Amino acid sequence: MSYNLLKGKRGIITGVLNEQSIAWQVAKRAIEEGAEIILTNTPMAIRFGTINQLAASINSPVVAADATNVDELEQLVDSAMQHFGGQIDFVLHSIGMSPNIRKGIGYQELNYDFYAKTLDISAMSYHKLLQTLYKKDALRKGGSVVALSYIAGDRAMRGYGDMADAKAMLQSITRNFGLIFAQEKGVRVNTVSQSPTMTTAGQGIEGMTEMIDTIDRISPLGNASAEDCADYIITLFSDLTRKVTMQTLYHDGGYSSVLPVFSVNK
Ligand SMILES: NC(=O)c1ccc[n+]([C@@H]2O[C@H](COP(=O)([O-])OP(=O)(O)OC[C@H]3O[C@@H](n4cnc5c(N)ncnc54)[C@H](O)[C@@H]3O)[C@@H](O)[C@H]2O)c1
Repeated sequence: MSYNLLKGKRGIITGVLNEQSIAWQVAKRAIEEGAEIILTNTPMAIRFGTINQLAASINSPVVAADATNVDELEQLVDSAMQHFGGQIDFVLHSIGMSPNIRKGIGYQELNYDFYAKTLDISAMSYHKLLQTLYKKDALRKGGSVVALSYIAGDRAMRGYGDMADAKAMLQSITRNFGLIFAQEKGVRVNTVSQSPTMTTAGQGIEGMTEMIDTIDRISPLGNASAEDCADYIITLFSDLTRKVTMQTLYHDGGYSSVLPVFSVNK
């Protein structure tokens, strides 16, 4: 159902790799709610994923940009402002990757070159994107930026490896850049901490299928799907949440508020 929540708004959506991507659902919902969007991903993801299929179906342009490269982010923001003829209303950061996790390297034996890449791709890219938007004064007053996190950014968990550190950093960037954006530009910056979700990035986590099942039984409302996540993010892009900023917002069926051992669903 559409509520026209984003009518007249324009946004940039990063991170659409394929139909499983959380960003895929956000892009679809943004269009349903009346927004115009630009999609972006790395040249490799554009070549090997299915972003172009989505772009064709929703009639939105795709601009290639590696989010670790500030020059490419500048070109992305310039293209978006040119395409929309002015400032942007919302941006989704839906980017994460750990070479250590991909290669099955545990937290106690991290490869430090890979560790630096994990932090750059999964956290520093959020700072780079925000800094580019800030310098170019690209966001309209009342605008909204959202990134995606996971609870392992706040609590210790085996198997999430160096991504846990990246998520903690992402959440800190949300608070610190959020303060500047709120005071100087009237723009919101938040992070949504999502339930485990079976996506390409999610599949990299060891024991993911079992983990999703266990967490689903502990979460009072059950796990939140990518579609549920998109619905929530749309509200954060809308004017209905204009005073929500600098937050890590749990979107996890209540999982983060229960004591797991006493709370498994019947
Ligand atoms: N799947 C889960 O269980 C889960 C849970 C909580 C949070 N998240 C977060 O959600 C976000 C989206 O992940 P997803 O689960 O939809 O998986 P996904 O694999 O579909 O998306 C990850 C995206 O990051 C992009 N990316 C990687 N390196 C990049 C770079 N250098 N520049 C630009 N883009 C780059 C990939 O191309 C891909 O589109 C990530 O931040 C992830 O950590 C996922």
